[in-house]
Amino acid sequence: MCVSVSTHGNTAVVTIDYPPVNAIGLEVRKGLIDAVERTESDPSINAVVLICAGKSFVAGADVREFDKPPVEPHLPDVLLRIENSTKPWIAAIHGAALGGGLELAMACHQRIANQSAKLGLPEVTLGVIPGAGGTVRLPRLVDAATALNMIATGKPLNAQRALEAGLLDAVSNNDLLPDAIALAQTIPAALATLKKPTKLPADPQRFQSAIDTILKKAGGQTAPKVAIQALNNAYQLDAIIALRLEREAFLSLRSAPQAAAMRHIFFAERSTAKVERVKHIAPNPVKTVGVVGGGTMGAGIAAACLLAGLEVTMVERDESACKAGYDRVHNTLETSLKRGLIDQLTFDKLLRTFGVGTQYSILAKADLVIEAVFEDLDVKQQVFAQLDKATHPAAILATNTSYLDVAAIASVTTDPTRVIGLHFFSPAHIMKLLEVVVPDCSSDHTVATALSFARKLGKVPVLAGICDGFIANRIMSAYRREAEYMIEDGAMPWEVDKAMTDFGMPMGIFQMGDLAGLDISWAMRKRQATTRDPNQRYVDIGDKLYALGRLGRKTGKGYYRYDTGKPTPDPDVEALIMAESHRKGIIRQAIDPDTIMARILSAMQREGQKILKEGIAQSAADIDVVMVNAYGFPRWRGGPMYMLDREVSL
Ligand code: COA
Ligand code: NAD
Repeated sequence: MCVSVSTHGNTAVVTIDYPPVNAIGLEVRKGLIDAVERTESDPSINAVVLICAGKSFVAGADVREFDKPPVEPHLPDVLLRIENSTKPWIAAIHGAALGGGLELAMACHQRIANQSAKLGLPEVTLGVIPGAGGTVRLPRLVDAATALNMIATGKPLNAQRALEAGLLDAVSNNDLLPDAIALAQTIPAALATLKKPTKLPADPQRFQSAIDTILKKAGGQTAPKVAIQALNNAYQLDAIIALRLEREAFLSLRSAPQAAAMRHIFFAERSTAKVERVKHIAPNPVKTVGVVGGGTMGAGIAAACLLAGLEVTMVERDESACKAGYDRVHNTLETSLKRGLIDQLTFDKLLRTFGVGTQYSILAKADLVIEAVFEDLDVKQQVFAQLDKATHPAAILATNTSYLDVAAIASVTTDPTRVIGLHFFSPAHIMKLLEVVVPDCSSDHTVATALSFARKLGKVPVLAGICDGFIANRIMSAYRREAEYMIEDGAMPWEVDKAMTDFGMPMGIFQMGDLAGLDISWAMRKRQATTRDPNQRYVDIGDKLYALGRLGRKTGKGYYRYDTGKPTPDPDVEALIMAESHRKGIIRQAIDPDTIMARILSAMQREGQKILKEGIAQSAADIDVVMVNAYGFPRWRGGPMYMLDREVSL
């Protein structure tokens, strides 16, 4: 029985218990109808509290049912039945109330939540829109700007924000169930949401400009556009008609390719941490983390660990580097504070659990240490030799290297089984992807601890083997090479970049190079020079720009010029490229946008196939997860390997 009913005086308590996240599948829908009937027919009951067992309220409709035909009772009908019940229903929310879960809560007559609550309509991130009244009930409770943001971008609200917005009627700071029962007894009857008037946009012009921004960002993605249409229906049409149109739109999106692609990524992201070789191995608990190096990455990693509730100790080279590292972490946390992601109390507490120093002895208590010093094998080996002596023998030692051989770094330690790569992406406290780079010397126990640590940070860990660039950077190098061939063959950097952004990538490869700094890619090519196949085609344009001091945004010039602040095509670069083609005897021919993107995509796919064959990635789905999370491959396209497997064209 996944839905049960008990009585507490005059209040019935309906409990959904359907692990792992109380998703509303068929049995839950049937159970809820049954609960409405039972509570209505019991004259001793005057109110109903709906609560969930386990770690959260209802996390959504059961996504696993989305590939099958809908089966009665349908969720919209279940929710109407609750809303029209003769007894008031109070939703008592802890943890996630997402998608169908929030729709269920909104069909109740009041809502109370504790501080752990996260309320949202993330359907667009799965390629659909709310299909059980979300677009119609939400704008009756919250203002238009909030409704738009939640429905068309999928952003959730925390309990405090939801209370202020009108989505919650109360917040419980004590025990949720008794508070919900007490609330239930204060409302003999409550108004159904559908009967409330919609809160029309107060400033239609501002509302339209918010819509325009969302549509621009959505690019080729369909769901946000349909979500906005559904919201407009809610403002303009009778509720029952708006509900019907919403359901039709939901069902049509649900069976469309974009939703299938997004479901692929949803489940792929949840499968990456399930690694056969460590299935039965208990990870070390990690409470205290050491970080060596407080630059861009070290500071970001420290902030990520602190925000996940871990103690952090950082080692830097000297006092001034310590201060700079401390300040970087402080500033990152301060931004989180200003954006309302943490409160002042938490901010103060996090800084109290953060220490900085120059002596390795301060790492003696650390359960896991992450090195993020300069990308230089000698420097990293010196650090690991020190860590070998200073840390507890059970501590895991990780390197954040982007390209170096983790086994070579481990070789200077007395126990290389505890060494592993943890490759974060910048900014480390925000980017979800974490490549867990496993050399042959790492023990299963080290791998298990690294995976569990990644989950603790809220990251998506993907296992990678040892090679130049692991998964993400190796694939990126491959398609950058293809892009470089194309500018020698006939395209200009801005044409390549436009084809990529039109496809749905957030930024083209040449703009990305300018942003990272052309000295970074130059250093990488220099490092690879000794091992490069002399027969491999080599494009010198990047080296020539570097020699001219055009290092990208930071010098105001790179592949583009930046005198207006924005990337602008530069005739000097055009001339340099034309001269290079001429020097190599290449007769330039225009390349159309579809061909540009097809070449980039197949470069990604070819490299992905090689990576799979070499065992660098565990599965094609892992590669898709990496590409979506590292370089913004459009989620709604499912990833390069997904497109290859299903022979999806552009
Ligand atoms: N339907 C079916 N299964 C779901 C689900 C859903 N709506 N939401 C989560 N699950 C499953 C996951 O696939 C996973 O299954 P597994 O253990 O077999 O891999 C399990 O529940 C736990 O999910 P996970 O995301 O790993 O747990 P978490 O604690 O990190 O996060 C949530 C919990 C609820 C925040 C997160 O699962 C989530 O955001 N879910 C999606 C919510 C959503 O998009 N709802 C709208 C649906 S239209
Ligand atoms: P950075 O130059 O910003 O920071 C390096 C820091 O290490 C400096 O603060 C320096 O003082 C410190 N340091 C150097 N030697 C040290 C030593 N012996 N002991 C203690 N501290 C020392 O570099 P970064 O961008 O943070 O990169 C660090 C590592 O992370 C590199 O291996 C890099 O390849 C990798 N990485 C970088 C990015 C990125 O986007 N920047 C992304 C992923 C991985």
